[in-house]
Amino acid sequence: MTDDPYRDAALVELYDLDNPGGGDHAYYRALADEIDAGSIIDLGCGTGLLTRALAGERRTVIGVDPSRTMLDYARRQPGSGSVIWIHGDASALRHDGNADLAICTDNAIMHVSPVPWWPQERRNPTLHAVLVHEIQETARHAGHADIIREYIDGAVGLREGVSNLPADADAATWEEHYAKLDQIARSVSSGTAS
Ligand SMILES: C[S@@+](CC[C@H](N)C(=O)[O-])C[C@H]1O[C@@H](n2cnc3c(N)ncnc32)[C@H](O)[C@@H]1O
Repeated sequence: MTDDPYRDAALVELYDLDNPGGGDHAYYRALADEIDAGSIIDLGCGTGLLTRALAGERRTVIGVDPSRTMLDYARRQPGSGSVIWIHGDASALRHDGNADLAICTDNAIMHVSPVPWWPQERRNPTLHAVLVHEIQETARHAGHADIIREYIDGAVGLREGVSNLPADADAATWEEHYAKLDQIARSVSSGTAS
């Protein structure tokens, strides 16, 4: 995790006043109700204003954030006991876990950077660059998710020699990664996922 831009406790105290939530929070609450979400992950939950609003008796809500200051504030707020708070980024979540709904709201996604295995000059993409990359990738694969296209092709990356993968990822690593994803997908389809 990189340096925390939200480490100033005095500013964090003001965050909810500046970002009180409105139609966006109402939308996520309605979505959670509509799909009857029993479990929700809020990645980059910050002060947890929305996270706490999503919590309910029949629902497990997990708030994840790498900022200690944001998370400490969230933990002090009324209703925080109904949420499971995790300090960290997405890598702190169980890899074999699942949720009915995962959200990442209010610019939190713009912090998901750098991409360590991208070339130095492009390692810190803007949100705009990431979105363009994803749109272009999806179009190039005729709408296939990467994992399906890679499975069909038996290859990854843009072209030979440009794998777009971490340098230390050898064939065995990716076979292991594929097996892990395959196992997760099978456990979801058979209803045994935890
Ligand atoms: C603009 S705040 C949004 C907070 C909250 N989601 C909201 O709607 O108010 C961005 C949050 O993203 C968190 N963040 C930063 N880097 C992150 C990462 N790599 N993964 C997840 N969250 C991250 C920050 O600590 C901060 O709390």
